[in-house]
Amino acid sequence: MDPERLLVGVPRETFPGETRVALVPTVIPALVRAGMDVVVETDAGIRAGFPDEAYEQHGARIGSRRDVFEADIVAQVRTCGANPDAGRDDLEHLRPEQVVIGFADPLVCPMGVLQAAERKVTAFAMEFMPRISRAQSMDALSSQATVVGYKSVIMAADRLTKMFPMMTTAAGTVPPAQVFVIGAGVAGLTAIATARRLGAVVQGYDVRPAAQEEIESLGARAVMLPLQPGDAQDQAGYARELGPEFYRGQQEFMAQIVAGVDVVITTALIPGKRAPVLVTAEAVAGMQPGSVIIDTAAERGGNCELTRPNRRVVTENRVTILGPTNLAATVPHEASLMYAKNVTAFLLHLVRDGKLELDLEEEIIKGCLVAYAGEIVNKRVIESLAETGVAGGAA
Ligand code: NAI
Repeated sequence: MDPERLLVGVPRETFPGETRVALVPTVIPALVRAGMDVVVETDAGIRAGFPDEAYEQHGARIGSRRDVFEADIVAQVRTCGANPDAGRDDLEHLRPEQVVIGFADPLVCPMGVLQAAERKVTAFAMEFMPRISRAQSMDALSSQATVVGYKSVIMAADRLTKMFPMMTTAAGTVPPAQVFVIGAGVAGLTAIATARRLGAVVQGYDVRPAAQEEIESLGARAVMLPLQPGDAQDQAGYARELGPEFYRGQQEFMAQIVAGVDVVITTALIPGKRAPVLVTAEAVAGMQPGSVIIDTAAERGGNCELTRPNRRVVTENRVTILGPTNLAATVPHEASLMYAKNVTAFLLHLVRDGKLELDLEEEIIKGCLVAYAGEIVNKRVIESLAETGVAGGAA
């Protein structure tokens, strides 16, 4: 490999249960054409179905963990706060001006960004990709949420004691399963579409009024709440945190609906905050025996009061509640393919004519940059850090 060319390193993910990989073999040629070489840690892609030989066939080199951390740019699925314990060992390998790219959990675990700043690395958080047309191909939150929405329904179908589609057979007619999806962002809409494909009768609900049309366009019934949330959406299109009174009203209303369905899929999130509790223990007590709740917000505390992250809870009235925290990693092949496309599009945006060009005022770069030249450079991360009692800003 030419030492003059930019080197991109792809480590094996070390977060427990993480099976994805940041780059897949098929994206390597585009990076090579753009002036980058790629070194991949031994077996980095194996859990996602991408063996070392496939990377080599597409022009990458296989190396040790030390080799990949010597690269100019380190591309990961989970970096900084998104891998706070196992990732600590990698900190000593990082050097000033090295670029690190990945999900960084910058608002919930801002200490990870602080540590990156202390190592004077240039860190980009994929969560902060602006939702603008130009950056759509780089939108990793959306690509991974698509996988989450799909898999949540597959999981529910597997656990439910009924079938999803209506069936008319000589042995009688089986009615379709009733599915209710709470939160109609990317994951929720994919869950709605998947449940519809499996033949279920689907209802969807979101606090953002704009979601109603999207829910209906997928052939589901949009549930309307007889409560006005006021300003439910921020400028970026994300939901805002709403007052306790609104949430109480919402919980009562959700209880009425969940009592009549077989499956509840919850996906409601507010960036950087605890997930709102929308399905209370009392609401679960009113559900039919054999019903299933898949709470995809479990990592952020859960939308159901009884959710326990990564545990199966079976209530007295035989309702099963699952709170998987890393669903995208259960479909690692496609999740990695899509994530790799996102990261590659971002790399091609950062690297021009084989040179790393960081225009710190450019919208995409500015949006994702969290640590630069020894400082935390994102206001929201500095605020989150201040909330944890650690002073932000200069490291
Ligand atoms: P998310 O993952 O942050 O949250 C999931 C959903 O939960 C959101 O739709 C949110 O409104 C909903 N939610 C929050 N609190 C709720 C409550 N109390 N009750 C019911 N629902 C609640 O959302 P995601 O998937 O990231 O989408 C956020 C927005 O970004 C949406 O408007 C989506 O259409 C938009 N978007 C835009 C893109 C683009 O322009 N390139 C790409 C992807 C999404």
